[in-house]
Amino acid sequence: MKSQLSTTPDSSHPVSTEKPGVRRIAVLPVRDTVLFPHSVLPLTVGRESSIQLIESLGEERSIVVAAQLDARADTPKPADMHAVGTLATVHKVVRMPNQSRFVFTEGVQRVRLVRFVQEEPFMVAEIEPLEDVESESTPAFEALVRNVVEQFKQIVSESPTLSDELRTIAENIEEPTRLVDFVASSLPFLTTDDKQQLLESASIADRLEQLNKTLAKEMEVQQLRNKIQSEVQDQVQQTQRDYYLREQLKAIQKELGDQDEGQRDAEELRQKIEASGMPEDVKKEALKELARLARMSPMAADYSVTRNYIDWLALLPWAKSSGTAVDITKAKDILDEDHYGLKKVKDRILDYLSVLELKKDMKSPILCFVGPPGVGKTSVGRSIARATGRKFQRISLGGMHDEAEIRGHRRTYIGALPGQIIQCIRRAETNDPVIMLDEVDKLGRDFRGDPASALLETLDPEQNNTFRDNYLDVPFDLSKVLFITTANVLDTVPPPLQDRMEIIPLQGYSEDEKKQIAFRYLIPRQIKENGITVEQIEFPDESVLHLVRYYTREAGVRKLEQQIGTICRKQARRVVEGKKDKLVVTKEVIREFLGNIQVRVETEIAERIKRPGVAVGLAWTPAGGDILFIEANKMKGKGTFTMTGQIGEVMQESMQAALTWVRSNATELGLAEDFTKDTDLHIHVPAGAIPKDGPSAGVTMATVLVSLLTNSTVRPLTAMTGEITLSGNVLPVGGIKEKFLAARRAGVETIILPAENRQDVEEDLTPELIGGTTIHYANRIEDVLAVALPQLKFRTEKPAVEAETIAEIAV
Ligand SMILES: Nc1ncnc2c1ncn2[C@@H]1O[C@H](COP(=O)(O)OP(=O)(O)OP(=O)(O)O)[C@@H](O)[C@H]1O
Ligand SMILES: [Mg+2]
Repeated sequence: MKSQLSTTPDSSHPVSTEKPGVRRIAVLPVRDTVLFPHSVLPLTVGRESSIQLIESLGEERSIVVAAQLDARADTPKPADMHAVGTLATVHKVVRMPNQSRFVFTEGVQRVRLVRFVQEEPFMVAEIEPLEDVESESTPAFEALVRNVVEQFKQIVSESPTLSDELRTIAENIEEPTRLVDFVASSLPFLTTDDKQQLLESASIADRLEQLNKTLAKEMEVQQLRNKIQSEVQDQVQQTQRDYYLREQLKAIQKELGDQDEGQRDAEELRQKIEASGMPEDVKKEALKELARLARMSPMAADYSVTRNYIDWLALLPWAKSSGTAVDITKAKDILDEDHYGLKKVKDRILDYLSVLELKKDMKSPILCFVGPPGVGKTSVGRSIARATGRKFQRISLGGMHDEAEIRGHRRTYIGALPGQIIQCIRRAETNDPVIMLDEVDKLGRDFRGDPASALLETLDPEQNNTFRDNYLDVPFDLSKVLFITTANVLDTVPPPLQDRMEIIPLQGYSEDEKKQIAFRYLIPRQIKENGITVEQIEFPDESVLHLVRYYTREAGVRKLEQQIGTICRKQARRVVEGKKDKLVVTKEVIREFLGNIQVRVETEIAERIKRPGVAVGLAWTPAGGDILFIEANKMKGKGTFTMTGQIGEVMQESMQAALTWVRSNATELGLAEDFTKDTDLHIHVPAGAIPKDGPSAGVTMATVLVSLLTNSTVRPLTAMTGEITLSGNVLPVGGIKEKFLAARRAGVETIILPAENRQDVEEDLTPELIGGTTIHYANRIEDVLAVALPQLKFRTEKPAVEAETIAEIAV
C-alpha cells in the first residue's frame, strides 16, 4: 500500500483551537486506499511534500489521512481531496534507503475537512469530528448485524488468502460501527470508492446495509470462481491421469519386451518409404505425413486415414518396371500363338512395338481396338502384355459416370480411395503395365463430372507424366504405361479422345475362321477348363461347322465358346457318372445337349422374299454385320408415303430419295406416270424395336419399291447394300467385311455391292471366304435392279441428259 502526503510547514503547526472541537491538522493525501478508525495502515511516503510533513511531526503525532479524488494526481491541491478523512496517530516512522519513509498509522476518528488553511509545503486543514448516527436496536437492525458477521465469516473461510483469525475477531466485536470498520478494512476486494462511501455515511444502519450488499455480491463471485476452479482442476486431472496410465502401459510393454505398436508401425512405414524409390518431393510429403502420424494417438479417428495414405504412397511402384526389351520375332510368335488370323491387326501391333523399342522416350499414341463383341480385343491386349513382358490390368469404363472413379476422391472424404488408374498401378506392382480401358464407347457422363475429360488427361502423353490423382495429391508418372482402349463403335467416343488414339479395327470372323479358332483355341481350352481330356471327347469337323452355323449368330466367337463349354460340361458329367467311352460330338449329340437348331436364317430368307415388295439389305451394327428385311406395301389412297420401324433421319431421307427416283423413272419402269395419285405407300423395316439408321439401305429400298409396284419378286437368296443418289447413282458404304459375313451366315448366295467397294472386297475377303458367293458390283440403281429383279422389263430409252440435270450431293 502506497501513499504520499503533501503540505506546507506552518509555524503555528498541527493544532489550533480557535473554535471548540475544531482543530488544524496536517493532511496526508493517499491514493487508492482508505484508513478506517481502529485499524492500522502501513503507508510508504515518497512525495517530497509528504516527507516534509512526516518530518515536521512533533510530540503530538496526529495527522489526517485523506484519499485523493483522482489517484493519478501527483501534487494534489485541496480541491483534489475527498472532504471526509480519518484522524490518525502515527506510530512509527522508518527511513528507507531510498529516502522514502515507511509510516504506521492507526485510525482514530472520522473527520470532515472544513477548510484548508495551508497548501505549502504540505496541506493543513481545519477539521471537525463526524459524529455517528446511532440506530435503535430493532430486530431488523440486529438481523442486519448478524448477517454481516455470518457472510464475512463465510467469505473468510472460503477464501484461501484471508486468515481464519478474522472470523473470531469479527464474532467478538460488539459495537456495530466498529464491526463495519473492521470488516471494511479487512476485505481486500472492496474498491476505494466503496470504502470511501462507508467512511462518509453517517448512519450506521446505512453503512451496515451497504456492506451487506457488497458482501452478498462477493459471495456469489466467490462461489462462481470456486466452481470454475474445480472444473478446470477436474480436466487437468483427467488428462494427467491418461498420460500417466499411457506411460505406465509403455513401461509395462517395455518390461515385457513388447515394442510400442505405433513406433514399430511408423518404423516399418519409414522403411517402405525409403525402399519405394519415390521422387524427392513426394518423399518429403510422405515423411511429413509420417511425422504427423507419430504424434497421433493410434486411437484417434484420423490415425488410420493418415496411415492408409502413407501406405498408398509407400506401396506404389515409383521406380519398379518389368517391361523388357522387345524382341520383335518373339513378340510375333507370341501373338500368333495366342490368336488365329488377325493378320492386319498383328502387323500394326508389331509396327507399333518396333517404334516403341527404337524410340524409348516416344510419346506413344494410345492403341484403340474397335470391333464387334467377342472378336478378341481384350485377349489381344493380354497378348501384347505377354509379348512385352509387362503386367496386364483391365478397367471397365462401361457405365462409368463419375470422374472420381478415374481420378479418385480427395482425402477429406470419408472412405476416400485413389481412382482406378492408380489402383491398377498398385495391383500391377510395376509402373509400366499394359492397362486396358475396356468400352470407351460406353463412358457415361452426368452431374458427377465428365470421366472422358479425366481420361483425356490420363491418356495424353504430353500431360500424363505428372498425373495427379485426387487422393494421392502428388504427381505420378504414367508415361511408361501402355494404354489400350477398346470399343464396339467409334461414334460415341468423344472426338478429342479419338484424336489421341491409333484406331485399329478388328473385324468379325467367317465360318471357316471360326472353325479354325474353335479347333486351335476354344475346344482345347474348354476341355481343360471342364476337367476332361482329349481322349474323352472328339469334335468332328462338320459338327463344329454345324455349331457355328445353327447355334450361334455373332461376329465373334464368344457364344461359340460357350456352346462348346456346355457340351464339355455334359461330357464331364457323363464321365463322373461312370461312362468310360469317348464321346464323338455328332449333330445328334449337339441336338441332345443344346436343344433344337437356334438360328434358321437360310429358310427365313427364302420364305420371306417369296412375295413382291420384300428385299434383304445388309446392315452394320455394333455387334457386327446383320441382314435387314425391308418390306413395302400399297393400298388405295391419296398418295401418302409412310415409313415405320424405328428408323433414323438419314434412313428416312434415303427412303424419300428412293421413292423420288422411282417416280421420276416411272415410265422406264413401265408404271403410270402418276401412279402415286390414288395409291398410299408404306415401307416398314421389321424388328421394329431396334433403332436403325444410315444411308446404306438406299438401293434395297429402291428395289423393294420397284418390286412392289411392278409386282416382280426379288431373286432368291440375294442381299444388297449401297447408298443411292436422286439420279440413281450407287455410292460406296462401310463395313463391307462384316456385312458380307452376315450375309454368308444367313445363307445368302448373291450379293450386290457398290462398284466402288470392290477394293474393300479384294483387301478384306480371301477367295476361300468368298467361296461360292456371287458378288455383283453396281454403279447405278439400274444395275442393281437388273440383278435383283430378273423378270423386270426395263425400258432404257430414257434420255441420258435428264439424269445429269439433277444436282447430286454425294455424302
Ligand atoms: N483370333 C482369335 N484367336 C483365338 N481366340 C480368339 C480369337 N478371337 C477371339 N478369341 C477368343 O474369344 C474370346 C472372346 O474374346 P475377347 O474377350 O477378347 O472379346 P472382345 O473383343 O474383347 O469382346 P467385347 O467387345 O465383348 O469385350 C476370348 O476367349 C478370346 O481368346
Ligand atoms: Mg473385351
